Amino acid sequence: MFKKIDMQNLPVHIGIIMDGNGRWAKKRMLPRIMGHRAGVDALKRVTKSAKKLGIKVISYFAFSTENWKRSKEEVYGIFDLILKHLKENYDEFVNGNTKIMTMGDISKLPKELYELLLDVTEKTKNNTDFVVNIALNYGSRSELARAFTNLAKKGKVDITVDDIKNELYTANLPDPDLIIRTSGEKRLSNFMLFQSAYSELYFPKIHWPDFDEKQLKKAIKEYQSRDRRFGNVKQEKN
Ligand code: FPP
Repeated sequence: MFKKIDMQNLPVHIGIIMDGNGRWAKKRMLPRIMGHRAGVDALKRVTKSAKKLGIKVISYFAFSTENWKRSKEEVYGIFDLILKHLKENYDEFVNGNTKIMTMGDISKLPKELYELLLDVTEKTKNNTDFVVNIALNYGSRSELARAFTNLAKKGKVDITVDDIKNELYTANLPDPDLIIRTSGEKRLSNFMLFQSAYSELYFPKIHWPDFDEKQLKKAIKEYQSRDRRFGNVKQEKN
């Protein structure tokens, strides 16, 4: 029951679909935006824990290409929360050793947020300790369409898997070993479809604002109990 995490077998890259903010708020009779606010607190908590545990890359699905369908109030409320988080932690980000990067078409975000994201990603681009990758106005299908368009523009005809990989936002990142989606839904919803070919998937029932270090450790232990074969056969121990 109290099995420890095997530090030699940590996932290098964890992807997180932060679901359940709205349900968390509804349960408390709060407006949805309060759920997102609690979601930012969870993101801060989990990022710190992941870094402390020795995870190298963490990717968060913060805003999808489909999320524009939500009310204006909610959409711009989420952008305001992200802007506030970046402003409040700006010094820590630019003086620390974490690389902050984004994936998705951030040019469509409000100007102030877009410019701050460009600034923070530029100032942290050479950091090596840890990577926080934020998916914003991101959809995996658009990412693939963009990749194929880029390859076509380069005149590529015989396209290899590596050619595609190199055109994705995640070109310089390892594929996610583990993808966590909170709140019980068992689907990827257009998140890293190409990159997740061999990811282990984990769907805890807990809503994202309640996710913490204990939950993260539980997810890692579950990951470590899986038999990752990458298409190979099980290697028997002698
Ligand atoms: C999904 O829950 C959550 C979102 C669409 C937004 C998540 C965004 C944040 C937590 C802000 C990220 C912050 C930074 C700094 C990157 P939902 O609203 O779909 O929940 P529901 O399914 O219960 O309604």
